[in-house]
Amino acid sequence: MSGAGEGIATAWAREDLESLSARGLRRFLEPLEPAQGAVVRVGGETFINFSSNDYLGLASSTTLRAAAQAALELHGLGTGASRVVVGDTPAHHRLEERLAAFERAEAVLLFNTGFAANTGIIPALVGSGDAVFSDALNHASLVDGCRLSRARVVVYPHADAEALAKALAETPARRKLVVTDTVFSMDGDLAPLRELLVACREHGAALMVDEAHATGVLGARGAGLCEELGIEAEVDLRVGTLSKAFGCLGGYVATSRAVVELLLNRARPFVFSTSLPAALCAAAEAAVDMVERDAALRERLWRNIRRFAKGLRALGVPAEPRCAIFPVILGEPDQAMDAARRCRERGLLVKAIRPPTVPEGTSRLRFCLSAAHTEGHIDLALEVLRQLGVHRGG
Ligand SMILES: Cc1ncc(COP(=O)(O)O)c(C=O)c1O
Repeated sequence: MSGAGEGIATAWAREDLESLSARGLRRFLEPLEPAQGAVVRVGGETFINFSSNDYLGLASSTTLRAAAQAALELHGLGTGASRVVVGDTPAHHRLEERLAAFERAEAVLLFNTGFAANTGIIPALVGSGDAVFSDALNHASLVDGCRLSRARVVVYPHADAEALAKALAETPARRKLVVTDTVFSMDGDLAPLRELLVACREHGAALMVDEAHATGVLGARGAGLCEELGIEAEVDLRVGTLSKAFGCLGGYVATSRAVVELLLNRARPFVFSTSLPAALCAAAEAAVDMVERDAALRERLWRNIRRFAKGLRALGVPAEPRCAIFPVILGEPDQAMDAARRCRERGLLVKAIRPPTVPEGTSRLRFCLSAAHTEGHIDLALEVLRQLGVHRGG
């Protein structure tokens, strides 16, 4: 059936694809030619890339490539099993120790992706009879982790610590876990972590935060929003990803040794999935060194962030220099797709973000900045936005 394409699932797929197309929500793949960077080639054309989460430009770093190549020679490619079977290597342990020092945490556990970390951790900690409290704009991986847990899911209004405190007070449960992004991935705003922490402490709840877009960007050493606020030790679990500012692939959680021990027994994506290649671990270890030691990388990123925020405000687009993500909200999917197409005609690769990634009526262009962008790249993006008049719904 699968070869002939006439099966029942194929009919289902056709029906759903037609519906996605009719609503302007269908997605297509589009390979980038080597390599990643601020300037990329797609379909034989050159663009300035404003859609990558490679915030520090490390994805194509020669240092990281060399670290990966050396480990590849030593360990080979695949690991053959989950780490609890025979897929564990010294490279995994070295990276965990390096990350624990970077995060100033008692222990770190690696996952294959940030998505796997979130969907694995929440069900390992809470289940039926418990409650999990989730910000309304949390990333899909936290949302799915909540769903998989079988705990009661209470969605609190976005970044509203008072509403969270009220929900915590009103919800009877054996265990209460609060989960939130620290930098919200589609809006680029920050969670009110101090206030959330107060609510958690008052009501005996644990706090788990996702620093995916904050690691390498925020904090004096680049360890994220918790570091910036000086609350690393107070937050129960801090999830990070190796896939964005670290330029690699993988996820991790910084927490206590006991939680790590529990997760390596219980988090299903950890237990039942083949581990990351050692070469990736070695590259990620080199990336952590670079982020921690090369403050100039983050300074370059922040110069770009400030320049872009100022330029957007001059165009009448609300923007604050809080992180590397800047949404330009346009409304309907077609408007965002059209703006993305017109950016492209002028040499900018910036993808339209549509439902279900963002709520209905808030389709947008989402600009992600990188230390690899030059001032000229930033200024060109601002000039294109000015020409398009996107601030007027363009
Ligand atoms: C907030 C947030 N958490 C988790 C993830 C997933 O991370 P990864 O790409 O490592 O799976 C993402 C990535 O898109 C994200 O934006």
